[in-house]
Amino acid sequence: MSEHFTEVLMTDPDRVPPRIIERAALVLSRGGLVAFPTETVYGLGANALDGTAVENIFIAKGRPATNPVIVHVSRLEDVQPLVAHWPTLATKLAEHFWPGPLTLVLPRSSRVPDVVTAGGPTVALRMPAHPVARALLETCRLPLAAPSANRSGEISATRAEHVLKTLTGKVELILDGGPTPGGLESTVLDISSDKPRLLRPGLVSRAELEAIAGRIENGDIGSTNEPLRSPGMLSRHYAPRTKLELGPGTGRQRVQELQRQGLRIGWLTMGPQSALADVQRALPTDAVSYAAALYDALHVLDDAGLDCLVVAAPPQTTEWQAIWDRLRRASQ
Ligand code: TXA
Ligand code: MG
Repeated sequence: MSEHFTEVLMTDPDRVPPRIIERAALVLSRGGLVAFPTETVYGLGANALDGTAVENIFIAKGRPATNPVIVHVSRLEDVQPLVAHWPTLATKLAEHFWPGPLTLVLPRSSRVPDVVTAGGPTVALRMPAHPVARALLETCRLPLAAPSANRSGEISATRAEHVLKTLTGKVELILDGGPTPGGLESTVLDISSDKPRLLRPGLVSRAELEAIAGRIENGDIGSTNEPLRSPGMLSRHYAPRTKLELGPGTGRQRVQELQRQGLRIGWLTMGPQSALADVQRALPTDAVSYAAALYDALHVLDDAGLDCLVVAAPPQTTEWQAIWDRLRRASQ
């Protein structure tokens, strides 16, 4: 893949500019890459039916070819050509949660290029709610493969600046729609077999899903023989380059201990704390606002050239599940 000049165009979500969206759609139809905001995080998009274009996403991100990508659509009718089977449960879940931050894993059709599914028998589908993502999908009328717009394994992008930091020269166009409202990636639910499995907790909670789908198993990859992997599930992921420690508790004592060793420390607190660390950021104390602000705070701390980041442990209640998931992986 050749290097590009990366253009950034302001795209107000409240008044999505048609000319800019048309420009982005043209880039996509020619096989190029466009980063765009969704209600979760920024996506790095390409025409999902163009295997070469999708390969370029993997190159740009440094993503292992074994990690499949999510395909985004704007209408229910658009999923039919992509799946081999669309169970009643899919209709029910789509009615409740689409457009929105839920990704459904279903048996794929042969129209989906292998690179999208990492050669596996399923495809992950999502209908985003963000006005810019929707306008783009409606204008290009293509299914868009779009992983999060960050280097593989690193922190996802919740602002256009985060995308620029690591993907400048690798993406033709970034649609800057401001900070993404949700701030964490979508929930990934595998309904390709009889037993729904939660592969990644996200902004749609397990309880909300179980109200519609009944009991949901934990997506423990090790317990199945499937060739497909969701590497986001297991390994260090969503991680800053700086070492990150989670707690214990508020992390105050750990910050002091590390400072006594002469290390420069960043401290991510919940709510205000008296000044202690070399760089300190306070996050809101409710889960929804915390999720929206988390990645931006991690980007800021990661860019500060510190020796270690200490993150206050959030509450253990279910509304914090997706946040715990990301912080745990970031601390591995
Ligand atoms: O919120 C989101 O989901 C964002 C926005 C841009 O839509 N996208 C995103 O994509 O987070 P990505 O590639 O960073 O994470 C997708 C996750 C990965 O853990 C991947 O392994 C899993 O979904 N996945 C994709 N296709 C799959 C499949 N066919 N079976 C199982 N897991 C799959
Ligand atoms: Mg990702």
